[in-house]
Amino acid sequence: MALNPRIDTWAGRLAWIVGASTGIGRATALALHRRGARVAVSARDADALQRLARGCPGMVVLPLDVSDREAVAAASRELIANQGLPDLAFACAGHYLPQRATAFSLAEMKRHMDINYGGPLHLLDVLLPDMLAAGRGHLSLMGSVAAYRGLPQALAYGPTKAALNNLAEVLYLDLHERGLGVSIVNPGFVQTPLTAQNRFPMPALMTPEAAAEAIVGGWSAGRFEIHFPRRFTWGLKALQHLPHGLYFAAVRRATGL
Ligand SMILES: NC(=O)c1ccc[n+]([C@@H]2O[C@H](COP(=O)([O-])OP(=O)(O)OC[C@H]3O[C@@H](n4cnc5c(N)ncnc54)[C@H](OP(=O)(O)O)[C@@H]3O)[C@@H](O)[C@H]2O)c1
Repeated sequence: MALNPRIDTWAGRLAWIVGASTGIGRATALALHRRGARVAVSARDADALQRLARGCPGMVVLPLDVSDREAVAAASRELIANQGLPDLAFACAGHYLPQRATAFSLAEMKRHMDINYGGPLHLLDVLLPDMLAAGRGHLSLMGSVAAYRGLPQALAYGPTKAALNNLAEVLYLDLHERGLGVSIVNPGFVQTPLTAQNRFPMPALMTPEAAAEAIVGGWSAGRFEIHFPRRFTWGLKALQHLPHGLYFAAVRRATGL
């Protein structure tokens, strides 16, 4: 059952991808541009965004740091003034540094929160009033399967993604009746600079291009949660129902941590 208005034609639609200089966001921007969408791309690395846009006629480059509310507001004003209200905004920017409680860094805990959770809040703050007034638009948040339950190394990262999953559910409840789409994207492992730091074999590892196809497919099907690859994510979903003792034992067995 489609929980959101389906987005199955992209020609002429405006999509704003935040976190598009590398990885999944970049691949998603390319996938939408190929389908005829008008695409605006944001991240901190303006050179990388310009290189991306050089191969994509019409692509709009809006460099910003997502943890800076004023920068997000200025980019949004520029986008809306020149291109109109986005049909879709994808809050894909993310930060990940493996961390354990035995080497706790408050600065890293806060940095993850500022980028991964604070960034999407800034986007909501600048886009929601116009989307509510127009009664249209789709807000898509980038979560992770690390949101489902506690995982080793995810001390700083996991809680930000769990917060986004909860936020997306509440947004859906408030916004669906107002005509807006809301989705949460929960990928397994995707081969990007972010996961290049992992020193363990990553099961069911995907390319960013395959991830982008799964995301665009989820928007087109009107899904609320877009999770992939399903052969991996369904298994993790099953673990969500284990009692804590069994869950902790299973994680220790699987990771050795
Ligand atoms: N790869 C995976 O297996 C995986 C799995 C689940 C979820 N995710 C999520 O997917 C999203 C994309 O990650 P990725 O794997 O594609 O990694 P990535 O290639 O490292 O991409 C991260 C993106 O976020 C941008 N970014 C980081 N900090 C930013 C900031 N302060 N302001 C603006 N942009 C910022 C980066 O651009 P700049 O450095 O140019 O700013 C880059 O475009 C993240 O939210 C990540 O948590 C990834």
